[in-house]
Amino acid sequence: MGVYSDEYQASLADPNVFWGKQSSAVDWFSTPAQVLDDSRAPHYRWFPDGRLNTCYNALDRHVIRGLADEPALIFHSAITGTRRTYTYAELLERVAQLAGALRGIGVAPGDRVVIYLPMVPEAVMAMLACARIGAVHSVVFGGFAATELAARIDDAKPTAIISASCGLEGTRVVAYKPLLDAALAKAAHQPLHCVIFQREQLRAELVEPRDLDLAVLMRPGSFEPAICQDMAATDPLYILYTSGTTGKPKGIVRDHGGHAVALAYSMRTVYDIGVGDVMFTASDVGWVVGHSYIVYAPLLVGATTVLYEGKPVGTPDAGAFWRVVSEHRVKALFTAPTAIRAIRKVDPEGKLMASHDLSSMETLFLAGERLDPDTFAWAAERLGVPVVDHWWQTETGWPIAANPRGLEPLPLKPGSPSVPVPGFDVAVLGPDGARLPPGQEGAICLRLPLPPGTLTTVWGDDDRFVASYLSAFDGYYLTGDGGYLDEDGYLFVMGRTDDVINVAGHRLSTGAMEAVLASHPAVAECAVIGVADQLKGQLPRGLVVTKEGFTGDAAALSAELVALVRQEIGAVAALRQIDVVAALPKTRSGKILRKTMRDIAGGTPTAVPSTIEDPAVVDALRPVLTNQHTPAQR
Ligand code: COA
Ligand code: AMP
Repeated sequence: MGVYSDEYQASLADPNVFWGKQSSAVDWFSTPAQVLDDSRAPHYRWFPDGRLNTCYNALDRHVIRGLADEPALIFHSAITGTRRTYTYAELLERVAQLAGALRGIGVAPGDRVVIYLPMVPEAVMAMLACARIGAVHSVVFGGFAATELAARIDDAKPTAIISASCGLEGTRVVAYKPLLDAALAKAAHQPLHCVIFQREQLRAELVEPRDLDLAVLMRPGSFEPAICQDMAATDPLYILYTSGTTGKPKGIVRDHGGHAVALAYSMRTVYDIGVGDVMFTASDVGWVVGHSYIVYAPLLVGATTVLYEGKPVGTPDAGAFWRVVSEHRVKALFTAPTAIRAIRKVDPEGKLMASHDLSSMETLFLAGERLDPDTFAWAAERLGVPVVDHWWQTETGWPIAANPRGLEPLPLKPGSPSVPVPGFDVAVLGPDGARLPPGQEGAICLRLPLPPGTLTTVWGDDDRFVASYLSAFDGYYLTGDGGYLDEDGYLFVMGRTDDVINVAGHRLSTGAMEAVLASHPAVAECAVIGVADQLKGQLPRGLVVTKEGFTGDAAALSAELVALVRQEIGAVAALRQIDVVAALPKTRSGKILRKTMRDIAGGTPTAVPSTIEDPAVVDALRPVLTNQHTPAQR
């Protein structure tokens, strides 16, 4: 562990020296004289007097230095059969054109642009175009429906929205434009323009003068291509909304300078990816994994990134990922454990794996949810390459714990994402805030200051940033995950300690789902809990108590509520089981005992808290939670 240990210790001993050195991986318009500004702690700022442009670092500088004809972006659509490679020069030309168009329609530096696009190259171009002109993008995942989109529009207050006529979800064509129109009908804030990418599978009706056709805007000659805006390292690059414990999503803010330095560092240290390497991150640009490792990081280091439209299975088969790896000579594949479980379910022997040339692949990286040892073993055995679990979150933007493959590959331990990444002082704290000894489970926290690239605040709400993350333990950031460190310093992440759940690697808020259920006129009380699921890791389950006098059919109500959640939050919520019950277990002070229900549903032995108001309620719920009841008993 020598190389890793030395680097890790150096990163914590003197962050100024350490990150000052790492900052040379980035081209600055004005090199920062100061590395860490702690004068406004706990609001730390990295490279406060540095100036740069993230798009310049992702594209222009590579073109200038001889990578113009090298592949930057490979679009691989398993749904339409499309393959399209953009060299660095081509991608730069497209991005500069789109950036010029955005400027031309009124987007100024600092303005927000909401991007609601499926997995098409235009999504990558849109993000980079915003970065180029200093606009702050906020990408909204396509699986979210109108209400969620409207909430993000009202919070970010975009000058423009970039969207598409449709997305292709497996065999389904999802009409995006009607969802956008519905969101704008709900939102108080209205953008100046909606820029729509028309796809041939389903064209959208454009309402002028608000709606503009992306292809027309990007036609050479329509607008002057934009040059790179000179940005302060501390200026916001993007806002990415993530689920908190309440129904209101949190707008995680990322800066330009710290982000570029940290991502470049992670590519070298964790992923071992640089110029000439191909990285395939099978996620979605709407999630942080997509932001960091489909879009920004591979391009920042001059590598090639694969943008994949499709699923791990069913588009058309469970060999889809292996086809991408062999066709494009992928060095590192990064996805969520769910995708591997889905592949294994269809192809347990790994026959489709064996039928492709996977010799280019050196590592499988997995993150987004807990990697169960069974899936780890299956993938490692079939692929014959290291399977590297790593743990991080939207807020951090890059791995907190990982096996540093580029620095010093360490032994892998099933069930552990390995060791803290340099820059992150990982501490497991007890309720009193004291660091716990190895083996003891507690709240996983990060000692401040967080390294570059991590969140700088919650958009428009510094108080919420402090209240959500920094107020539990003085001097520490609360990750929301529980776990422990072992004797060797390996971290074991046991799951969220709050009401955030993880469904198929998608982070969802049970609070948001509860808010939808509670809005139904027949519902008096409700709870949504996450229960273990073999494929998706967790699935949400709802329990509702009807208002007095409700005489309707419970099954019909349940179906109505399932449809309501899908309509309000989106298909991605995947809430399919809602039981109508007589009562919910509560403490005497009225707090719903979600953990008790979660434990019972998950088959975990649980002691019912002594503060419970009526223990009989739990007994009555047991058969429902363990699915032992017949529908008549519901
Ligand atoms: N736009 C519109 N709808 C979407 C969507 C998008 N971008 N992404 C998902 N959905 C829909 C799905 O079609 C599905 O709809 P359905 O209820 O009509 O079937 C629903 O949301 C739930 O999606 P999901 O939970 O992903 O289930 P799935 O059955 O479609 O796919 C997996 C299951 C395992 C194949 C899929 O979840 C997967 O590939 N996971 C990999 C993990 C991943 O990419 N994580 C991102 C963070 S790293
Ligand atoms: P997101 O912000 O969507 O990336 O989700 C972050 C959350 O996903 C974390 O707080 C964890 O609960 C969970 N998570 C991500 N990666 C892992 C991992 N490797 N092991 C366990 N949980 C993980």
